[in-house]
Amino acid sequence: MMRKVFVTHQLPGGRIHELAQLCDMNVWMGPGLLPASRLRSELAGCHGLVCLLTDRIDKTLLDAMPALQFVSSMSVGVDHVDVQALSERGIPLGNTPGVLVDTTADTAFALLLAAARRVAEADRFVRRGDWTEANAWAPEFFTGKDVSGATLGIVGLGEIGQAVARRAAGFGMRVVAWNRAPREVPGVEMLTLDELLACSDFVSIHVALAQETRNLLDASKIGLMKPGAVLVNTARGGIVDENALAAALANGRLSAAGIDVFAKEPVLADNPLLALPNVVITPHIGSATICTRALMADMAVANAIAALQGQVMPCCVNPQVYD
Ligand code: DGY
Repeated sequence: MMRKVFVTHQLPGGRIHELAQLCDMNVWMGPGLLPASRLRSELAGCHGLVCLLTDRIDKTLLDAMPALQFVSSMSVGVDHVDVQALSERGIPLGNTPGVLVDTTADTAFALLLAAARRVAEADRFVRRGDWTEANAWAPEFFTGKDVSGATLGIVGLGEIGQAVARRAAGFGMRVVAWNRAPREVPGVEMLTLDELLACSDFVSIHVALAQETRNLLDASKIGLMKPGAVLVNTARGGIVDENALAAALANGRLSAAGIDVFAKEPVLADNPLLALPNVVITPHIGSATICTRALMADMAVANAIAALQGQVMPCCVNPQVYD
């Protein structure tokens, strides 16, 4: 009998049809995000799960799924999954690193430039009809912050952090970085996190969300940032204390921010960052290009196919389950 696999969203890419040939595949067709209660009912009795970063895979869910043999997430980040609980049950977890590196670095740089040069604020100004004779070009009209020649602090010098560093080099920036494990990258000066925060005109976050990085940029760390600095976050919202960031942006301690990710997604209407004109906001689109999303989907499917065929997943977060 074919094994049952639940896929929590329709996927792009070319390989989903291969998976359909190998199992009894059920795909959630929406509309919108899959509710947690529906995940629980659809997953009951399934051997495999292909999910998104919006699906919470926790102990309670796993306890109710004794037949589950693999989980494959179409994401590089796996903070939505209780990895330890999966490992304890010997269940491999697949993810999709690598293919989204350049796309996400582009997003970080787009937010950095947009925040520095007030692009979103200026766009709103023009569309509102505020660009009038009385309110037109003047020496200090929409002045922002120079990127060229400024110092960029990269928090987390993994693949995406390094791709951001390469882009920064093209803008003539001095690049400094902090990483939990020692790392040597040409053209990048390694500093402690506190040193980085104190000297950077721009800070871009590229660490994964884990117990050690939750609230890494809390009020005290934000307080160490260089006055007038810009913060960019394309990693995970839970890494930054959003209230402390909003306070620093509102009182002028920081000049701007570019934020793609939030502690609670979709962002809540009362999130204080939404009320600030100096924050450029995007809805978690760091890896959102047609090509990259197709590659991510194909990797997630490749992990699922390997698991179904009794092979090691090509990208496995907890390979120790195969020992
Ligand atoms: C991921 O894959 O974890 C990213 O956040 C998607 O953009």
